[in-house]
Amino acid sequence: MLGLGPFLMPLVPPYIESLRPYVAGRNADQVRREYGLDRVVKLASNENPLGPSPRAVEAMRGALGDLHLYPTGGLELRKVLAKQYDLKLENVIVGSGSEGIMSNIIRTFLCDEDEVLTTESAFIGFQVLAKGRGVRYCTVPYRDWHYDLPALAAAITERTKIIYLANPNNPTGTIFTRQEFDEFYRHVPERVLIILDEAYFEYAKDNPRYPDSMHYRYDNVITLRTFSKIYGLAGIRIGYGFAHEELIANLLKVKLPFEPSTVAEAAGIAALADRECVHRALELNARGLRRLGGALRELGFEVVPSEANFVMTPLDSREAANELTVRLLRRGVIIRPLAAFGLPHCVRISTGTDEENEFCIEALRAASLGLEPLALVHNER
Ligand SMILES: Cc1ncc(COP(=O)(O)O)c(C=O)c1O
Repeated sequence: MLGLGPFLMPLVPPYIESLRPYVAGRNADQVRREYGLDRVVKLASNENPLGPSPRAVEAMRGALGDLHLYPTGGLELRKVLAKQYDLKLENVIVGSGSEGIMSNIIRTFLCDEDEVLTTESAFIGFQVLAKGRGVRYCTVPYRDWHYDLPALAAAITERTKIIYLANPNNPTGTIFTRQEFDEFYRHVPERVLIILDEAYFEYAKDNPRYPDSMHYRYDNVITLRTFSKIYGLAGIRIGYGFAHEELIANLLKVKLPFEPSTVAEAAGIAALADRECVHRALELNARGLRRLGGALRELGFEVVPSEANFVMTPLDSREAANELTVRLLRRGVIIRPLAAFGLPHCVRISTGTDEENEFCIEALRAASLGLEPLALVHNER
């Protein structure tokens, strides 16, 4: 096979060839070794620093004895979710993370000539899935780091099949309001499917302006939620979605029959029952947002007001963003530079434990010294 590489290229469609593979951020162990550090804090992936509920851990242990048996396709978790949200089982789907379900949506509903529509620099997972399908990928710019819903409504064409909205949005952390969504929805034809990605729903739900999509239940809206964020279960891959039963029935034709795994399903069911754990994570996050946001502003950084578990900071240039990222790495703090999202001059910092946030702030103080001149020299976006 050696040396045949160029001849294989015609096998790869151009829209796959032009994708860049997802590069996961470095984990704490890698950074510890690479920079010879004792302490490394990862604030790069919007995870819950408290980890999963002990009840979820116990349930996962309990599921280990049954691993010789195939899973049920998430049936038990679907039942629990249907009961909790007063829906029929047929309105609920579960899968390997909300991205797993998103991937099924792309496969189920898109034809070659369709278009998808979203904001510029949307959540990278959606970008990769939609571009990897080879359909026309249409975007409108942010307005003040928010989805520009009127512009999105105006950009709908006869070919638009899917509109993707993350609320709260990753990477900006902003939300669109109930009123904005109502107005937008009036302009969306019924033939267009709206994906409402609510991965960070729990962090925003108490804001009275936040449109909880479960209060709407439109036939052409599919809501996606996850156990990866507030429930601290990113590593086990479990997410869920709600939609009209016809949409779910078609998604179930495409979904891998044995996802989610038995262990993931058990974790999800147990995690849902631990309200106390969610409450603790919310309080920690609220403190973290205040503390990190305040410290960043004091240091002269711009901070986009966030309704999620991270903050986004636009800098003056790509170089300044890279420089800040590397300076923090050297001090043992891993943050997320946003070039891959399409925002090379921005970085994103997730909230950690109180202690991790203080460690990050100390590192930011040291790292930001002398950053401005550098930012000014390379004043490009
Ligand atoms: C907006 C958004 N949607 C979906 C996901 C992925 O969630 P999951 O782990 O359930 O696939 C993320 C993770 O970062 C996200 O930020």
